[in-house]
Amino acid sequence: MLSKKPDTNLKRLVTSIATALSFCMGTGVYGQSEKSSEKDIFVAKPYLQMGTSAQASNHDSQEILWLAKDKKSSWSVEVSQIKDNKGNKAVKAKTTTGPIAVREIGASKDSPDYSFSCKIDNLPFDSIYKYRVLKDSKPVFEAEAHTRKSFDSPLNFVLFGDLAAKTDGQKKIAYQCYLAKPDFVVLPGDIVYNRGLYSEYLDKFFPVYNTDSASANSGVPLIRSILTIGVLGNHDIAYDPRIPYTDFKSNPDALAYYFLWSQPLNGPTKTETNSATPIGGDAERESFFKKAAGDRYPAMGNFSFNYGNTHWLVLDGNYYSNWADPKMRKFVIDDLEKAKTSTWRFVTFHQPPFSIDKHHADEQHMRLLADIFEKEKVDIVFAGHAHDYQRTYPLTFVAKGASTNNGVGVVNPNGTVEGEISFDKTFDGKTNTHPHAPIYIVSGGGGAALYPIKDLPAESVKYMDKVYAAKHSLTKCVINDKKLVFQQISEDGAELDKFEIDK
Ligand SMILES: [Fe+2]
Repeated sequence: MLSKKPDTNLKRLVTSIATALSFCMGTGVYGQSEKSSEKDIFVAKPYLQMGTSAQASNHDSQEILWLAKDKKSSWSVEVSQIKDNKGNKAVKAKTTTGPIAVREIGASKDSPDYSFSCKIDNLPFDSIYKYRVLKDSKPVFEAEAHTRKSFDSPLNFVLFGDLAAKTDGQKKIAYQCYLAKPDFVVLPGDIVYNRGLYSEYLDKFFPVYNTDSASANSGVPLIRSILTIGVLGNHDIAYDPRIPYTDFKSNPDALAYYFLWSQPLNGPTKTETNSATPIGGDAERESFFKKAAGDRYPAMGNFSFNYGNTHWLVLDGNYYSNWADPKMRKFVIDDLEKAKTSTWRFVTFHQPPFSIDKHHADEQHMRLLADIFEKEKVDIVFAGHAHDYQRTYPLTFVAKGASTNNGVGVVNPNGTVEGEISFDKTFDGKTNTHPHAPIYIVSGGGGAALYPIKDLPAESVKYMDKVYAAKHSLTKCVINDKKLVFQQISEDGAELDKFEIDK
């Protein structure tokens, strides 16, 4: 049971916050005796999501989500103590807290878990707020959350793909992410191994990224406090090359991405394109999944959002996404055109267009969008998929046959897209910090088993300044107005790469 003395606990909590490190990633602390109660109350403790608010204008909105078995109790969320982003000065704001939305989730309606969500609106930019989740009017969880930065504020983000595989590397990268004190985190696909199942999220994702304290050996209190953005990878869709759809018969709790994440729904709709994650195998479970996902399926596969002076376009690079389709290309063009008001334009998806590793070098279909990225002045394209770190020179790509095919390249049966690559080798990110074309990053060292360096063919190093394959690592970018400082950090905190871009 929860403590019978909430006031005493609140005092303890406030004391705990006051004595915490200046950067506090959240608490959820109710003393040791309550820990087991928390465990009983939640299937997964509360975590922060962007929700559908893609384009924050003069204020931010966020969603708090949690998973529990108990649907009958009365749940609510309270917001208090909004401070500036250093946690010092109180900020006045009239936030609004929406009703609690409930979804049945899991493998089937016979024994569902419940996903609860609450939208918090009118949050000031550049601030930290405290939220409490209450069950039957008793506080059962508390944490701090960071709102989005305003356009003029410096920001930093961390990015790593191919992560939740229950390895030591996953935990070490989670810890390095925590130490980097990011404003937000981007996960470019293969979020949860091996199949993106709900049961795998409970085993490998939440226990590492939403702990009560931080440790390199267990996990960190990250997602309760820091906005985290998920991207679909091939391991997130229970992909099986023998079956042309995600099969609910063999994986009844598949595609958890669509019911655990709450992200903008401003991508192309299913009626506009055929590029939606195909599902099948069991009509009843299919129907249960669709109800659990609601309008997030299939819309949440592609979306965009702004954070401070950065614009992000998130794409689904899985096999069913046809990026040669004029409607899909138009979505990318229109989105990036609108993003011209942002200082920085980033695109992220899972499958890298330019990779040198033996395992995925031939999966080049995302090269079909390279011409758009160049024309729309995308700064960096972030991918994962290859379990290593790779950086290209700034490059442009002219697909073979594009001139007679409405500007679109052709994907060969083996996955390659032939064409001509031109490098801007004058850019070194130190003395010359003005790239003439997009830079392509693979940051796929988030925790899954690493690819050995012997699998990197020597002749392909022509794309690259440097290649690091031997360690788990993450990307950290610090942006201050028109300056970007990029670092690749290893699981033990060492700097593997660094470059700067100036505008
Ligand atoms: Fe992958």
